[in-house]
Amino acid sequence: MDVARFDPHREDPVPVARVQVAAMEHARTPGPRPNVDTAVWRLRNPFPDLGPAVHWVARAGGEVVGVAVAYFPERENTSSVLLTITVHPDHRRRGAGAALLRAVVAESVARGRTSAEVWQVDEGGPGEAWASSLGFRVGWRTVLQQLDVTDARTDVPVPAGYRFRRWIGAAPDDLVESYARARNAIGDSPLGDAEFEHPEWTVERVREEEAARRRQDVEQLVVVAVHEESGEVAGLTEVETRPTAPTWLMQRDTAVVAAHRGRGLGVAMKAGLLRWVLPERPEVQSVLTGTGSDNVAMQRVNHALGYRDVRTWLFLQREVEGL
Ligand SMILES: CC(C)(COP(=O)(O)OP(=O)(O)OC[C@H]1O[C@@H](n2cnc3c(N)ncnc32)[C@H](O)[C@@H]1OP(=O)(O)O)[C@@H](O)C(=O)NCCC(=O)NCCS
Repeated sequence: MDVARFDPHREDPVPVARVQVAAMEHARTPGPRPNVDTAVWRLRNPFPDLGPAVHWVARAGGEVVGVAVAYFPERENTSSVLLTITVHPDHRRRGAGAALLRAVVAESVARGRTSAEVWQVDEGGPGEAWASSLGFRVGWRTVLQQLDVTDARTDVPVPAGYRFRRWIGAAPDDLVESYARARNAIGDSPLGDAEFEHPEWTVERVREEEAARRRQDVEQLVVVAVHEESGEVAGLTEVETRPTAPTWLMQRDTAVVAAHRGRGLGVAMKAGLLRWVLPERPEVQSVLTGTGSDNVAMQRVNHALGYRDVRTWLFLQREVEGL
């Protein structure tokens, strides 16, 4: 077993993407049908705002059998490494996962990271058993929910006292400050025992994130509720498109500022976004979202819109020392 650093821009990413696709097919991962194009795109376009992504591959007899992706966040969570290890289903229990983990741990120590976090681990799957055997503890659970557009129930009125505004890609200048403030309301969402810190949103950070998405060919479609009396953004919801999966939308953050909760804004904004986007994008068949398992309110909102629960993902953590 040979483990080496891997640069998806300079080396051929296809054999690595194939391992990821095989693992997703094996796990029947919800969402867009796994394909090599999407996996290559993600290898070359890491999640924005999580710091540099570092990759390693494991080879056996010259063949790529596993991949590790580690993020080293530089703003929040600066003592953490976020890692994902994926081994081809036909090559498991031969030490590839352990060898990749050793490489990630060495790099984490070199970068002064003290806490290791594995994410998007299927509850009840091999990753949970593997992580538990290493002493990782569950910090947080996410329920993945899927909406097939034929099931969508979007006929929800806009609550009195609010009007909706919408945009693609860039928040209008007259709203961006208030929008940045409202985005911080996501920081109130429950994260179980996870030590994960939410981002601190400012206008500058909103603009940086918008630019990062443009660079990755990701479209961001946003609906906000503006409180008519104050002109302030009271809540927001957003979906993203992925360039390689046009039949899917990814429902991202939905947040309502504390003073405006309990008035049905969450469900009304999500429904309003679907009423806008679905007729304009007839190719879209499904929407996928992840909701904290403690966040019963948001799960209910999603059920009311026609979403169903499809999977639970775990976020597990432990100290780097001793791994
Ligand atoms: C989890 C995963 C990476 C393990 O890779 P692997 O190459 O099979 O792991 P290793 O061969 O290095 O296993 C090392 C040790 O981990 C533990 N382990 C690994 N897989 C396990 C499983 N399914 N159940 C219980 N323990 C397991 C065992 O102690 C094993 O030692 P052993 O085989 O001598 O008993 C692999 O199953 C995988 O890709 N799963 C899907 C993706 C995922 O969930 N990744 C983990 C989250 S980042």
